[in-house]
Amino acid sequence: MDAAEMCKANLVSKSHDAEVSWDDEFQQLVKTFPKEKSWAGNNLYFYQGFWCPALVLKSVISFQKHFQALDSDVIVATFPKCGTTWLKALTFSTLYRNNFTKDENPLFSFGPHELVRAFEYDLYLNNSFPDLENASLYQPRLLSTHLPYASLPTSIKDSDCKIISICRNPMDMFISLWHFTEKLREDKLESVSLDEAFDKFCNGIYGFGPCFDHVLGYWKASQENPNKILFLKYEALKADINSHLKKLAMFLGVPFTEDEEKQGAVEEIARICSFDNLKELEVNKKGSHSSGIPHTDFFRKGKVGDWSNYLTPSMVERMEKLIQEKLDNSGFTF
Ligand code: A3P
Repeated sequence: MDAAEMCKANLVSKSHDAEVSWDDEFQQLVKTFPKEKSWAGNNLYFYQGFWCPALVLKSVISFQKHFQALDSDVIVATFPKCGTTWLKALTFSTLYRNNFTKDENPLFSFGPHELVRAFEYDLYLNNSFPDLENASLYQPRLLSTHLPYASLPTSIKDSDCKIISICRNPMDMFISLWHFTEKLREDKLESVSLDEAFDKFCNGIYGFGPCFDHVLGYWKASQENPNKILFLKYEALKADINSHLKKLAMFLGVPFTEDEEKQGAVEEIARICSFDNLKELEVNKKGSHSSGIPHTDFFRKGKVGDWSNYLTPSMVERMEKLIQEKLDNSGFTF
């Protein structure tokens, strides 16, 4: 077994172990939640309107119960496979750029998921009271979550902390998720077909799904409170990263100075955080995230429109209808 295979085996056993470790009270509570299997073979529990992976159900509840946000906190809140890794790298490099020279960016030595730690997959996993003072390499704290807006701890919504969210065309998101879970599947001999996975996807049955509620939750909140929530689109960042970096810096309260712009600071951050650069860094080619997922699994193609290489015309038609139905009258488009 190579290092990556060991990480995956570890991840799978962690998922089972999480459920086995639940105490009686928690088992009783969970019994009341609808349960399904993800197409990767792990259990999902329907909690507060989304399908929560068993691995993090307990940590999600601890996070909701105990986390006290500070007004200065910055939170990257995303749906999985929509560009979390990229957004973490961009936000980290922009927010903290005065803490290091451009040649010493910690991204050269640590994966984006190590630098911006996740509440449910990392900090609160097996720990109801994690050390949050040291959860971030620099101040202000920069942390992340996959929780929908409606399920965020009250203190995040009520404080002046800032939230950055990103969405992506659901068809690309599905294909990205399909590849990601195929790599992590429990039983490689019984691979689930793309058709079967697609059907579950259309029914919203995947970790943190359905994605539409997630996207609309953050998008609506950003419309109501644009100074608190910055809502981005993966495709728009791909089309013009520089202007989005300036927008991000402005939103974070650390706008690029004229001097910085003249010296190419914006372009430099865009380059360091680009798919091609991050994917090729030694640190992202080996090692794994604390959840057991190898860093390399977070970098696949990084393209817009890869769905066209996989989805049949009837799948596309079904997805387009679903998107139309879910976004109907919302004012939001992908
Ligand atoms: P693909 O599977 O389509 O290639 P997340 O970070 O939310 O898990 O999303 C993963 C997706 O973002 C993957 O998409 C991955 O390749 C892509 N990605 C990772 N780093 C990126 C970067 N720096 N720029 C653009 N896309 C990136």
